[in-house]
Amino acid sequence: MTPRVVVSQYVFPEAVDQLRRAGFDVEARNDDEPLPPEQLQELVRGAAGLVSMLTDRIDADFLASAPDLSVVANVAVGYDNIDVAAATRAGIAVCNTPDVLTDATADLTWSLILATARRVPEGDAFLRAGRYTHWKLAQEQLGADVFGQSLGIYGFGKIGQAVARRAVGGFDMTVRYHDAHRLPRDRERELGVTYAEMDELLATADFLSVHAPLTESTRHGIDATALARMKPSAILVNTARGPIVDEAALVEALATGSIAGAGLDVYEDEPTVHPGLVEQRERVVLLPHLGSATASTRRRMAAIAVGNVIDALSGRRPRTLVNT
Ligand code: DGY
Repeated sequence: MTPRVVVSQYVFPEAVDQLRRAGFDVEARNDDEPLPPEQLQELVRGAAGLVSMLTDRIDADFLASAPDLSVVANVAVGYDNIDVAAATRAGIAVCNTPDVLTDATADLTWSLILATARRVPEGDAFLRAGRYTHWKLAQEQLGADVFGQSLGIYGFGKIGQAVARRAVGGFDMTVRYHDAHRLPRDRERELGVTYAEMDELLATADFLSVHAPLTESTRHGIDATALARMKPSAILVNTARGPIVDEAALVEALATGSIAGAGLDVYEDEPTVHPGLVEQRERVVLLPHLGSATASTRRRMAAIAVGNVIDALSGRRPRTLVNT
């Protein structure tokens, strides 16, 4: 029987064609709204492969309801929406899409650092409201310096390192990082970064950028205590996963001036954003999870996910397998 592959939400037509050309019976939703879990379970029943999005919850119950499934290919580098341990126990391959989105996400992180520090959206709104009457020395949108400042990076995988390269090479910044795994010293020297314990990272950063994966040990890694250790002039940037930052504590820290600003691309209960963040327009920049959102990156992510399904169902090892 021809293996059936489900694509849970809209992907580019060429990716669906790639699956069809590989000879699978493809059921590709043309809708980009996630399905409620029971409906996704129903759709996936009997399927051998699933192309999933980070908004699909692939938990142990879901996996138990899909005994024919042998591969789940998430169109994202992050896979905290998938219970990988349960998948591994069930013999299901889980794949992600690393590497292709590293530079796009690092660039977007830099957009947030600069936009928040230099108050770009505030300037734009000011001008559009017809309030720009003349240049003045003490302009309304006086911002913070970026060049030559100190950057702390929490989570130092490929994206964190790409952010660091831009900081060192382009902005002459002092870069410290914290990660569960320290890099070899020669790699640190090559990148021009130093390792710091979390307390030092927090206390020294003019900008703190989050690039850790979401795990039980990073959830609320930036909580009220961590925020209280930061400089009152510091700006927090998060393009990783929302629940790494305690959003209520962040709102409080911004309101009390315990930090100066935040540039966020991800939220604790996405797509809901804490009203305290939405209300705060000064030095808070909010984006709708755009990290990897360039046209070519998103197409490459879809192609990799589909390639992983084809490999797994053809008896080859998928290129970006996550199970260990
Ligand atoms: C990912 O890939 O995990 C991002 O959050 C979306 O591109």
